[in-house]
Amino acid sequence: MLFDLDVQDQTEAHAAAMARALDAPCVFVLRGPLGAGKTTWVRAFLRALGHDGIVPSPTYTLVEPYETVGMKVWHVDLYRLQDPLELEALGIRELLDGDAVMLVEWPERWPEIDARSDVRLHLRHGDSESARQLEVDAASERGRGLLERMEWGALPKVPTPR
Ligand SMILES: Nc1ncnc2c1ncn2[C@@H]1O[C@H](COP(=O)(O)OP(=O)(O)OP(=O)(O)O)[C@@H](O)[C@H]1O
Ligand SMILES: [Mg+2]
Repeated sequence: MLFDLDVQDQTEAHAAAMARALDAPCVFVLRGPLGAGKTTWVRAFLRALGHDGIVPSPTYTLVEPYETVGMKVWHVDLYRLQDPLELEALGIRELLDGDAVMLVEWPERWPEIDARSDVRLHLRHGDSESARQLEVDAASERGRGLLERMEWGALPKVPTPR
């Protein structure tokens, strides 16, 4: 499913719609180059779940925990991960077995994460400063269910998928 997002508001509306459709913990992987908008999407997602504090980019800590109403959320950024073995020391692998939402930037650094993901997001720069193209794919039954609920929901600010 492809979305043309002309402005940041639309990226944020997309993330919020997905957060509202969430009814069970899911693993989201977010691909895309530096500055594509992965953290921006995550911030809007967390806000829609009710988190109203700051959301620092976990570039150095690699993982930041959040406790929203009824949902634990882990925001992970693997940009600086040198070796998947570091995941053991940080305890990130165990998070997958917990009952929490995971939002993982730079999943390329951890090849097995794709096999455990429910939804794959890929943000690309568009042809203006604020334009992005967002590709969304379900990677599991749970992910498919989530995307189906989103399609049927009201998404006023998100353009119709092409
Ligand atoms: N349509 C848009 N969607 C998302 N971000 C946008 C959009 N238009 C402009 N921006 C800007 O692009 C930047 C995206 O930065 P962000 O930190 O979200 O990227 P990132 O993909 O997480 O990068 P990194 O790989 O460094 O973590 C922000 O400054 C944001 O304001
Ligand atoms: Mg980021």
